Amino acid sequence: MCGIVGYIGDRDAFPILIKGLHRLEYRGYDSAGVGLIHADKTLSIYKAKGKVSALEQSVENKDTTGTIGIAHTRWATHGEPNETNAHPHFSQSGNLALVHNGIIENYKNIRETLQKYGRVFRSETDTEVLVQLIEYVQETQKCDLFAATQQALKTVIGAYAIAILDKNNPDQIIAARKASPLVIGVNKTENGRTEYFIGSDASPIIEYTNQIIYLQDEEIAVMNRKGKLKITNLDNVKQTPQQQTLQMSLDELEKGGYPHFMLKEIFEQPDAIRTCIRGRLDIVDQDVLLSGILDHKEKFLNARRIIICACGTSWHASLIGKYFIEEAAQIPVEVEYASEFRYRNPVIFPDDVVIAVSQSGETADTLAAIQLAKSKGAFLYGICNVIGSSIARATDSGTYLHVGPEIGVASTKAFTGQVITLSLLGLAIAREKKSLSDEMFHMLVNELQVIPDKMQWTLEHNKDLASFAQMFTYAKNFIYLGRGYNYPVALEGALKLKEISYIHAEGYPAAEMKHGPIALIDEEMPVVVIAPKRGMYEKIVSNIQEIKSRKGRIIAIVTEGDTIVKELADKCFVIPDTRDCFVPLLAVIPMQLLSYHIAIAKGRNVDQPRNLAKSVTVE
Ligand code: G6P
Repeated sequence: MCGIVGYIGDRDAFPILIKGLHRLEYRGYDSAGVGLIHADKTLSIYKAKGKVSALEQSVENKDTTGTIGIAHTRWATHGEPNETNAHPHFSQSGNLALVHNGIIENYKNIRETLQKYGRVFRSETDTEVLVQLIEYVQETQKCDLFAATQQALKTVIGAYAIAILDKNNPDQIIAARKASPLVIGVNKTENGRTEYFIGSDASPIIEYTNQIIYLQDEEIAVMNRKGKLKITNLDNVKQTPQQQTLQMSLDELEKGGYPHFMLKEIFEQPDAIRTCIRGRLDIVDQDVLLSGILDHKEKFLNARRIIICACGTSWHASLIGKYFIEEAAQIPVEVEYASEFRYRNPVIFPDDVVIAVSQSGETADTLAAIQLAKSKGAFLYGICNVIGSSIARATDSGTYLHVGPEIGVASTKAFTGQVITLSLLGLAIAREKKSLSDEMFHMLVNELQVIPDKMQWTLEHNKDLASFAQMFTYAKNFIYLGRGYNYPVALEGALKLKEISYIHAEGYPAAEMKHGPIALIDEEMPVVVIAPKRGMYEKIVSNIQEIKSRKGRIIAIVTEGDTIVKELADKCFVIPDTRDCFVPLLAVIPMQLLSYHIAIAKGRNVDQPRNLAKSVTVE
């Protein structure tokens, strides 16, 4: 995790760096720091424990001038979140300052070796090892910083995205990456000069330029004030930068009048899903057009099975995808926690299709899982939201969600986007395989088309949850229940509550209650049950009765017009009727809102919950 920003050009760097850090705070907010080279060529570093705003306050009377700088927002891995462990880190001489995102796995060995050569470490971080090592190589091999960084990075095991300032070369920034993302923004100013921006993603850059270069694994770049950019690999072989135009607007990154990104993103879902579906559903010819699938039809048609690797919310969406793909396309699907899959020597056949589902496209475990699958010859398909992300680039083919940037740490619109995309994928394969009747296919395609309107309806009928949520601030536990397609929704509802309110919550298949969890039920226990008037309605009504007779407090999600569950439940949220397979897209909305309002009632920071980060680039 962690976020990196950098700037070199004619403007004042500090405001650009601070704004950029705010945009990257979703990646971690344990501490923040900035390094600046002033006009007199001195190098200042300012750091603060906590959020970027704490850093801003701490520098109020300090010299923050300078047109070159690097900055960092941290999600602590090695060493507690304090000022000493905050980045940037100085080298022994104080000439170099470095920020880092990732983990240096062999840092202990390197540290011990450097200590033997007299290097003194000030922090407990793995990062300080990097900057000390680079300087050590520079001094002992008498080479320039670029060459020293190349050499040093060759001895490093792990993941890094770094940016370095050098007091002795005050007109350049060096950046490099391996397995952690790094983007360079290139802007030609009005006076014909070129300025460069660095970011862990494009969000700190997009305000200034849409011309970007994604640095590749084991590439190192040097940008200087004269507008020159050189990129090589670690063996000093020159690389040709692929400059791209990024399609993202600044508006998409702002809160747009909502108090929190999470609430904005919940309410954005109808539009986000419209965009996700646009051009992919051909209502006239009744077809699904997913180029990523159509271009590799044979791979899917001949697939022995599909394995989906994901983490967190993406794993829940994948489980719904499994149910749908198996039902519609009749291909066996396994859903794996990427973190488990990558380490357990799984059986992977060359005719397996392995799908990575990841909002950020940067989750380290998911990336490693697909790399493992690739080494065993499987065909890799990516379902990501962030365009140009590492997973999107590491896969053979794929589909973007196109739901727009998701900033709130708790995933909402990406979840519904993933469910829709997996449904489209299932339908596209089913169409090719003819595993669904025309009638069923048309029914599903037509229903998918109206899902955004039904999401809108659901939002309008469930928006006033604030006072209801107040009643649950006492709760220490929650249970979420669902069956069939709604079991993964129960898991997702429970995760949303845990993440942002810090209330313990369990998602369970409703019928499993009697095998243990029902012992937890008493008058204190809120139980959220997804009970649409569909497939297993009678069965879920029986499950509700079992809870009711043990005095549990029932919050139910029901189909509009339901009367039976309304009689039994303490509170009902309504959703419009839809096909079983699409209920998750609607049922999840009241759950997202409930979690949001309970968290607000408890005074939590919903966009930046404690201990979490949006993009988990460490394993
Ligand atoms: C983190 C985020 C979750 C997300 C998970 C997987 O834990 O806080 O919201 O579901 O990572 O992330 P991905 O980007 O791979 O979907």
